[in-house]
Amino acid sequence: MFSKAFEISLAKSYEYHSYEGSNENASLFSEMVSLRAVGVPTSYIVCSRSFWQNDFYVDRTVLDPRPESELIIDVTKDLLFDGMRVLDLGCGSGCIGLSLYKENSNITLFLADFSKKALSLAKKNAEELKADCEFIHSDLFSNIHNKFDLIVSNLPYVAKDDFRNLQREIILHEPHEALYGGRSGLRIIKLFLDGVNRYLNKNGIFVIEFGKGQDFLLREEFLRFNFNKVFFYKDLNNVNRVVCVKKDT
Ligand SMILES: C[S@@+](CC[C@H](N)C(=O)[O-])C[C@H]1O[C@@H](n2cnc3c(N)ncnc32)[C@H](O)[C@@H]1O
Repeated sequence: MFSKAFEISLAKSYEYHSYEGSNENASLFSEMVSLRAVGVPTSYIVCSRSFWQNDFYVDRTVLDPRPESELIIDVTKDLLFDGMRVLDLGCGSGCIGLSLYKENSNITLFLADFSKKALSLAKKNAEELKADCEFIHSDLFSNIHNKFDLIVSNLPYVAKDDFRNLQREIILHEPHEALYGGRSGLRIIKLFLDGVNRYLNKNGIFVIEFGKGQDFLLREEFLRFNFNKVFFYKDLNNVNRVVCVKKDT
């Protein structure tokens, strides 16, 4: 917040024991501190969040990207090929899809969300990162009319009981429709699983994030939908948080 308010680089800001800026800079800084004191997340105050290799513009219209979602990039970055059709469904700030684009700018990227505000923010990030991509306003697959080689998705998965116990600053400041996944947490993910096969090309893959402990419920869903090529990936806490599923035919 200090470097943002005083318009100096983060590295430079560590060099000062005391720093004299203008009155405008100082009052902006004190305004930022007041917002933080009432629990507004720092990334919303400075309108920026670092994710994978880039900084993304964020505000309270989108989820504040989480470091654990970088696991999706880790799992998929080596699968990208020129011309690959990639869909980020529930793109929010666009951090997942746009990070993949920065890994290989020859993919054909589509960013979709049911929040118009999220889509316009993702557009801003795409412009900033000079990414050539398409934006689709869609409630899950309702407005998707093509097939893809890779679908990445971090849909809401917080279960009802866990939602009540979320940190107060998350409940007060982050968009609930980006977090809440119904009683079990998997309401929206199950709807996604119900439709995803129709939107994958032959040999297509989907990669999704889910909550701690939900892998057991997901395994049952994969059996129900006849997904057999299923690979789970663990986060830094050694907990399964991402799954990659390959289409059978
Ligand atoms: C957990 S946030 C993830 C945002 C971003 N991908 C990230 O990782 O930071 C979930 C996103 O899915 C979107 N979303 C929720 N339900 C949706 C639905 N039915 N159809 C499309 N998007 C949806 C929300 O608007 C939100 O942007």
